[in-house]
Amino acid sequence: MTDAPFDLLIRGGTVVDGTGAPGVRADVGIRAGRIAAIGSLDGSAKREIDARGRAVTPGFIDVHAHDDAAVLSTSMDFKLMQGVTTDIVGNCGAGVAPALGDGLRGLPGVEIVLGPLPVATWTTFGEYMQAVDDADLAINVGCFVPHGIVRARHLGMDRRAPDPAELAAMQADVDEGMAAGALGMSTGLIYMPGTFAATDEVVALTGVVAKHGGIYMSHIRDESERLLEAVEEAITIGREAGCPVEISHHKASARSVWGKTADSIEMIEKAREGGVDVTFDVYPYTAGSTILSAARGVTREIEPDAIMVASVREHREYEGKTLGEIGELLGIEDPREIVNRVLADEPSAVAVFFSMHEDDVRRVLAHPLCMIGSDGIPSPTGKPHPRLYGTFPRVLGTYVREVGLVSLEEGVRKMTSLPAQRMNLPDRGELREGFAADIVVFDPATITDVATYQEPRQYPAGIDYVVVNGEVAAEHGRQNAARAGKLLRRGQVTA
Ligand code: CU
Ligand code: ZN
Repeated sequence: MTDAPFDLLIRGGTVVDGTGAPGVRADVGIRAGRIAAIGSLDGSAKREIDARGRAVTPGFIDVHAHDDAAVLSTSMDFKLMQGVTTDIVGNCGAGVAPALGDGLRGLPGVEIVLGPLPVATWTTFGEYMQAVDDADLAINVGCFVPHGIVRARHLGMDRRAPDPAELAAMQADVDEGMAAGALGMSTGLIYMPGTFAATDEVVALTGVVAKHGGIYMSHIRDESERLLEAVEEAITIGREAGCPVEISHHKASARSVWGKTADSIEMIEKAREGGVDVTFDVYPYTAGSTILSAARGVTREIEPDAIMVASVREHREYEGKTLGEIGELLGIEDPREIVNRVLADEPSAVAVFFSMHEDDVRRVLAHPLCMIGSDGIPSPTGKPHPRLYGTFPRVLGTYVREVGLVSLEEGVRKMTSLPAQRMNLPDRGELREGFAADIVVFDPATITDVATYQEPRQYPAGIDYVVVNGEVAAEHGRQNAARAGKLLRRGQVTA
């Protein structure tokens, strides 16, 4: 080839292109942030990477992130080092826009789940997206309009339906965000204030999302006793609003519903046959994580040994201990009393809940409609759930290599082309000429998550290079100074 030289040439790896097609040995040439050629390439390059014995794949897309604030203020090492090159924020109805007045700082869960909040320089969702666009992003970012924030703006923490004017104002917020390039709207129907919304309110707002060609993403109303009713509600919202639906972190989160993901998946398949376009995502762990106060809402028994305090502000001695262990420390036996006591000391405690069965995790993960989302909580202190650091390598190490649940090609598809198509990111998620050069080079034989519940802040092993928009951003376990990420708007070619 006598072309202009490549900026970067990744030589001799097995190209797993993200579509699910079998890997093939090929070189990948990159120029000006895009994939310029794939094949047997002779051109010279400013930099060459030897990828022999390695898989070369598209950068991973984390469809379920809570990094709305973190992308503005951190190096995003916990994601980048996993091979994540695109982070989808605004999930579970929580976020930092359209506006983050002082009132919203007290919004249950927001500051706890999203980490330290920025000083908002925006008053609309589009302005927030512009602030993200203007920031020195380490990875790409796509945004969902969070229903909880929109609702709080117009109804505060009121437990009631909006009146017609309030509903119109909420629709206008969603419309503004979608017009600015948001990917869709998310709900957290289990959290305040999202839980105060009846189905028809969500339908009315999701209709606006549908009009723009976006997607409705939901932390559904119940993931335990009433799991199937909650899945039914998500399907109903999609059908009535005429909008594609993504069920976030799909799981059966209580002993009493273990095994029910077989039924929920059947419902989803039936809904699809009936014309409602439903997909879902998962993180590869049998424990979840959220605010400890969520334990109060549930009617079921609290199992003190199945809940571990992850992050607190002051009582650091609680971190990494189960409620049972804390109960012993405090001389309290009644599980509810232990929860109340910890919350009295630390109202914003985040906990890890060992609440799922491995069979459900595998059933969900293996399904062709399932993509990968970490649900990582970017807490600067404590022991956050290890999914923050380990989700993607864990899928590839544990479930692809060790368990053989899905092939390498299929595992990669779940974290690349499937989410890119679903989120309407037209030039991401595949290794293809003309596509953005978001690339991971890793060793399928050694890639491993290292983060554990007790020691979660550990980078994975087995990842050699992470490339964001054509720039090497991490190599051999180290992030460099590159800040090549971009804001991704719905349906737009961005490289
Ligand atoms: Cu979430
Ligand atoms: Zn959630």
